[in-house]
Amino acid sequence: MSSFRTLDDLGDVTGKVALVRVDLNLPMKDGSATDVTRVEAVKPTVLELADKGAKVLLLAHFGRPKGKRYSTMSTSFVQGDVEEVLGKEIMFIPEVMGPVVEQSIGILRNGDIGLLDNVRFWPGEEANDPEFAKGMAAHGDFYVNDAFSAAHRAHASTEGLAHHLPAYAGRAMEAELKALDAALGNPEQPVAAVVGGAKVSTKLDVLENLVGKVQHLIIGGGMANTFLAARGVDVGKSLCEHDLTDTANRIMDQADHAGCTVHLPYDVVVAKEFAANPPSMRICNVHEVASDEMILDVGPQAVEALGDVLKTCRTLVWNGPMGAFETEPFDTATVALAKTAAALTEGGSLTSVAGGGDTVAALAHAGVKDDFTFVSTAGGAFLEWMEGKALPGVAALTA
Ligand code: 3PG
Repeated sequence: MSSFRTLDDLGDVTGKVALVRVDLNLPMKDGSATDVTRVEAVKPTVLELADKGAKVLLLAHFGRPKGKRYSTMSTSFVQGDVEEVLGKEIMFIPEVMGPVVEQSIGILRNGDIGLLDNVRFWPGEEANDPEFAKGMAAHGDFYVNDAFSAAHRAHASTEGLAHHLPAYAGRAMEAELKALDAALGNPEQPVAAVVGGAKVSTKLDVLENLVGKVQHLIIGGGMANTFLAARGVDVGKSLCEHDLTDTANRIMDQADHAGCTVHLPYDVVVAKEFAANPPSMRICNVHEVASDEMILDVGPQAVEALGDVLKTCRTLVWNGPMGAFETEPFDTATVALAKTAAALTEGGSLTSVAGGGDTVAALAHAGVKDDFTFVSTAGGAFLEWMEGKALPGVAALTA
């Protein structure tokens, strides 16, 4: 892993202005956040800087306003959530540069926290305009990036600022980069990857990157149906991208050449309709799916065998659920495999790293979110990292 500076490399920050990029793109319902995990993730960085006497200016995006100011997308909407998690009052500042920011900095005392408005209100943000970055940088003494989940964007606040101020990884970014390096950068082998979710088409690059890096590729969710179909299995009316069977075969060939075993379910849970506990539900071999049935989860025998695979591995990276986990009982395989991974992690034989929106929800549902070695708060950035892409926000910190 290339090296990057962390908060440990900062000298005395008393009275200095820290521009801290955080991800406050929180899921909202009726005006308040439904999940504050991202705020909890940056809390250690923000409080550490405040405790050391810096004036902390939080810089974030919220939604996709595309360079225009919309009152409904102001970061002031999450101010209350941030205050609650931090346990501190913060000052909302309705700009990201200029006299209002300067005056606010004058009002803030050492150790106080300000929240700048949605940086995507200005077109210079997404254009990564150096002048825009310079304008923001003029207010800060140093820049901290603690928003791994936005690091796949080459924007002024995620990438550009690192070229205008001394740049540091925050504690959440630091933990994220260390965990990801332990999972795929420099992992203890054998490595298993669980890749689930509905569609192969959204994870093609992930699969192609993983077959060259891991010894076991466990495919679940709707995308497993496409692989089964590629192997000649009749998947009935299951979700399946029939136009991608050639691609699935190519990925399986690549895996063969690279010495990676692809694990597909050999028993499955099927039903004629997609509903909770449908009367038509049954467990069968993949070769016995009827034309009016759909595969909704991996079967119990396959789950047990996959658990045995994990027992032989030292590292696990997980993205995507094994079945239609939001509807009972099609959460069974995901929950069982997640519990096995958690137990192996607890027993010390497995380093387990998971990420992606659905995955985090699935692990929380299984009650094991805190038992994995590391669970990433990132969605798109985690996927791009699994695709083997360099993330601009990370590259700027390690340059
Ligand atoms: C996210 O919510 O995944 C990040 O905040 C990135 O948001 P974006 O996809 O709008 O860039």
